Amino acid sequence: MLSAFTCQSFFIMASITDTARISLDIQCLTIEPTRYVPDLKEDVCAGLLNRPRSLPPKYFYDARGSELFNRICDTPEYYPTRTEDALLQQAGSAIISQTRPDYIIELGSGNSNKTKKLFNACEQQTHVCAYAPFDICRPVLEAAAGELKENYRWLEVEPLLGDYHAGLGNLPRYDGVKLYLFLGSNIGNFIPKDARAFISEIKDQMKPGDYLLLGADRIKPPSVLNAAYNDSQGVTALFNLNVLRVLNRELEADFHIDNFTHEAIYNERLNRIEMYLASKTPQEVAIDKINEKIRLEMGEKILTELSYKFHPDELEAMFSDLGFNIIQHFEPDNRYFSLVLARLK
Ligand code: SAH
Ligand code: AVI
Repeated sequence: MLSAFTCQSFFIMASITDTARISLDIQCLTIEPTRYVPDLKEDVCAGLLNRPRSLPPKYFYDARGSELFNRICDTPEYYPTRTEDALLQQAGSAIISQTRPDYIIELGSGNSNKTKKLFNACEQQTHVCAYAPFDICRPVLEAAAGELKENYRWLEVEPLLGDYHAGLGNLPRYDGVKLYLFLGSNIGNFIPKDARAFISEIKDQMKPGDYLLLGADRIKPPSVLNAAYNDSQGVTALFNLNVLRVLNRELEADFHIDNFTHEAIYNERLNRIEMYLASKTPQEVAIDKINEKIRLEMGEKILTELSYKFHPDELEAMFSDLGFNIIQHFEPDNRYFSLVLARLK
């Protein structure tokens, strides 16, 4: 997950009933990088040693971070997951009948829960396809693949383990019609120029006639956004602070978690949530594996995530500029979220 990715076979015990259990053999295919990507040590040296301090958000997602993300999705304030899920429930049938995919390839798939709406639509239309979830977090990928294999016996599941920032050029070559999914507004965690470059990289994997379904969070009243990233149960705070535990474990750092506080604020000018860890006190933190110490002032912040929110026209313009036809742009009545289905010309 965070260290070397290795292709590994293992068995998970999946419970079917209270009494019967089966074992499912889950094999993840490791996707090698197509270009140089900094490792955790390099990212920490580049992001934490100098001001303004920052860390890339991909390091949130160890097993605990992924579990916390799933808990965020269940908080009353974090509307994106349930809004997108409801949209997929409504639109799933139309998406499958339009696309008739041989392969569904999902980038940053997480627990694949929302994707089940598409598999349900496949079942209703007796349409068989294969599914390739691609994620950086091995435990979440393995658990999702195991659960899908158990519940959708007809579905071929081929989990792909790797970092999508490292390029998509080593993804397996799939025959037939492909439907790429990039859901959950993961696109919002890229800065705008990288977001466009990433969609362009997905495009490079596609043939004319393949599809991309993008889920993107929309600009909305700041009060709604601020609440979504500052849930009252404090789960988002735990998720944010978890990255310090990752650094303690992976780099033998001595961050005292209680000395930091979660901050998330909507920047209306830049249409983005900015998430920080702020130092509650002046402190020095040792990071043994890189032989460094950092000194933080009281109130000094580490930027841990940007989460951009989109205007619908901006999403459509990006697809058109990149040579896609927009097949349908789904949105709920409150216009909180966009699901854009686009086809490569
Ligand atoms: N798409 C899912 C999960 C969103 S959480 C949903 O909408 O619910 C973000 C997911 O992206 C996590 O599962 C995380 O492990 C994965 N992820 C984050 N950075 C990644 C990267 N660089 N490469 C591959 N997966 C990544
Ligand atoms: C995964 N990503 C799109 C989430 C977001 O909303 O930016 C991660 C998250 N951060 C805090 N809450 C959820």
